[in-house]
Amino acid sequence: MAAAGPVQGLKVGCIGAGKMAQGVLGGLILGGKVSVQDITVSAPTDTNLQYFQDQGCNTTHSNISVLYEARVVFLATKPHVLPQVLVEIAAALTADHVIVSMAAGVSLQTLEKLVPRGVRILRMCPNLPCVIQEGAMVFSRGPGAGQEEADMLKDLLSGCGMCEEVPESYMDIHTGISGSGVAYVYLFAEALVEGAVKMGMPSAISSRIAAQTLLGAAKMMLETGEHPAKLRSDVCTPGGTTIHGLHELEKGALKATVMNAVEAATKRARDLDKR
Ligand SMILES: NC(=O)c1ccc[n+]([C@@H]2O[C@H](COP(=O)([O-])OP(=O)(O)OC[C@H]3O[C@@H](n4cnc5c(N)ncnc54)[C@H](OP(=O)(O)O)[C@@H]3O)[C@@H](O)[C@H]2O)c1
Repeated sequence: MAAAGPVQGLKVGCIGAGKMAQGVLGGLILGGKVSVQDITVSAPTDTNLQYFQDQGCNTTHSNISVLYEARVVFLATKPHVLPQVLVEIAAALTADHVIVSMAAGVSLQTLEKLVPRGVRILRMCPNLPCVIQEGAMVFSRGPGAGQEEADMLKDLLSGCGMCEEVPESYMDIHTGISGSGVAYVYLFAEALVEGAVKMGMPSAISSRIAAQTLLGAAKMMLETGEHPAKLRSDVCTPGGTTIHGLHELEKGALKATVMNAVEAATKRARDLDKR
């Protein structure tokens, strides 16, 4: 399948129109992967559908209509709503459909039980920066989905950021490191800003500098492919400012605390998965 340009004539649907639907479908549109007139989105109210109407997509309050219009259908409701949605649309699901669930904590096994046999299912895990095409996404295939569906999904999502296929057991770890990880990074950014404010720099400029520092550090990690420990040690001049700062972070057990946070969020995601 082509790596760029719209997937010719592909009709894409989305059930649910909230933050993640807007992020992922918005990325598809911005990436030029699907034409807006080939997208149909459903939700019970117009609150979030307005975004898609403004883009020129088709919108509806009927979930089942999405199945009649689209071949690839994203499921973007909250996890607890998803089972009833799948029961509602089951009669319209065919072997031509490719279903992509983005609901956190709903396993492929659970999804498979809720759809007729032969329907191809994939499960993806997005994160919030999808909305600015900088997502870190992973996906796994259900038994019905093959290489063709995996390649198609990768191609579609290439407009939303990075996307890798992983074993399903990594999904909850992705939630721990990335879905929730975005919030840890904001907390760290907030701490940088407040430290700078304490030392006398105004908040607005501190925020811009903190954000660009995180962006620059992240880009260096991606572009050099180096382990973060190597990049960190490169910044440390013997007896210099950075090692003094890092010593304080070590005293506060930053690394162990963040590792605990990834572990806690992953375990919580696993618990939700088991419900
Ligand atoms: N937010 C994240 O960072 C993140 C990360 C990873 C995965 N996810 C997953 O992404 C999914 C969506 O999350 P979100 O943050 O986008 O939620 P959200 O903003 O609350 O959006 C939920 C959408 O579902 C719609 N909806 C509710 N009941 C429905 C029904 N019966 N049929 C069809 N649509 C229905 C809502 O309709 P209205 O517009 O009428 O309210 C809304 O458009 C969740 O399963 C979540 O686990 C989110």
